[in-house]
Amino acid sequence: MSTASSSPAQRVAARLALRGDLLDFTGPPEWGAIESPAVRYRPDHWLLIEGGRIVGAQPAAQTPDASWRQVDHAGKLLMPGFIDTHVHSPQIDVIASYGTALLDWLETYTFPAEMRFADPHEAEAGAARFLDALLASGTTSAVVFPTVHKVSADKLFAGAQARGMRLITGKVLMDRHAPDGLRDDVPLAEADCIDLIDRWHGKDRLAYAVTVRFAPTSTPEQLVMAGKLCAAYPSIYMQTHVAENRDEVAWVRELFPEARSYLDVYARAGLMHSRSVLAHGIWLDDNDRAVIRETGAQIAHSPSSNLFLGSGLFDWRAAIEGGAAVSVASDVGGGTGLSMQRTLADAYKVQAMAGQRLTAWKALHAATLGSAEALHLEDEIGSLEIGRTADVCVWEWAVGPVATRRHEVATALHEKVFAWLTLSDERNLKAAYVAGIDRLATA
Ligand code: GUN
Ligand code: ZN
Repeated sequence: MSTASSSPAQRVAARLALRGDLLDFTGPPEWGAIESPAVRYRPDHWLLIEGGRIVGAQPAAQTPDASWRQVDHAGKLLMPGFIDTHVHSPQIDVIASYGTALLDWLETYTFPAEMRFADPHEAEAGAARFLDALLASGTTSAVVFPTVHKVSADKLFAGAQARGMRLITGKVLMDRHAPDGLRDDVPLAEADCIDLIDRWHGKDRLAYAVTVRFAPTSTPEQLVMAGKLCAAYPSIYMQTHVAENRDEVAWVRELFPEARSYLDVYARAGLMHSRSVLAHGIWLDDNDRAVIRETGAQIAHSPSSNLFLGSGLFDWRAAIEGGAAVSVASDVGGGTGLSMQRTLADAYKVQAMAGQRLTAWKALHAATLGSAEALHLEDEIGSLEIGRTADVCVWEWAVGPVATRRHEVATALHEKVFAWLTLSDERNLKAAYVAGIDRLATA
């Protein structure tokens, strides 16, 4: 990624027209519906971008005039950049680690790797590596866990700012049940959060999230402090993990006997609100789902991670029926890659295990407009609507002989898109425009 020489503002073409097959959503597709009025497919169109924002779309035959820089991606798929609602920036270093489930995975692999991020140079290099990897997967917006170290959040914010990305993050809170070098304490953590909020929240495309690792690694006092921050700064987000693994759920029950459930630990601390992003939520009950619905929080479903760590099979249908918003997340390094297509393909398989069918529409909506809405950012990201920031990815419909043949014989639109979703990954990505700048070309 080149952040040197010229600033993003200087390099953005005043008027840019991208040609290709435009696909996005205008609302939530129904569960199981192959034909959906929420799907907006505009084959062979120009997408018009001015000053980094989408200003229109028109059929290819209507060629824009010479005032537009034209980039011809004819025959390729143009979609809004993906939104990954739960991913850990330091965990590229432990992705694909063998032989453990959540709690021993944390101790054996993850905590040792996160210690490196105390060093500002490691934190800066790690943030750059991670953000470039996100972009190389077609993810232009993300909700991210760095580490407990304030500098890890600082470097992540700075890296995202340099790339013009929409990023939500915050220093991880953890003051117990973690090794030396990975624990904070309540007064220090509070001061660090306030300083980071003051310096980064609302700056460019960045937002702060109070980042509680999970209930076992925060004392009740730290959870109360986190809840107070949410109340004091109503526009910040909150992110955490909940009900991912059965041993973890049992441990939380021991640590917080007064709480009705794992989710209730967070509710009692004032951490459940419409900007709360809850990773996993596999082992929830109807009561918990009702709390999620009432508070307007969301579940960041992380299917690849749930399969890899053997955590369980998320019941998406029950979440929807309980009124809980569901977005989709890679959860690297529990997850096995940053590709949202591979994550969504795993989501399909998880639902298939329960006899349910996840359509390509429901899946892609959850990774674009659906997550934008759950984050209250639908006016900025998640679709190709006029006025949105031009975060747009260009994909090959097919790479390699198998996908190419499958694409050739597909006829209906859902068939084509579902095959693309199942067979594609970051190798299909041709361009990743962030606010109208192709960050693959500048890499
Ligand atoms: N629960 C607490 N920390 C983590 C983490 O880093 N990854 C996952 N998957 N679950 C967690
Ligand atoms: Zn996670």
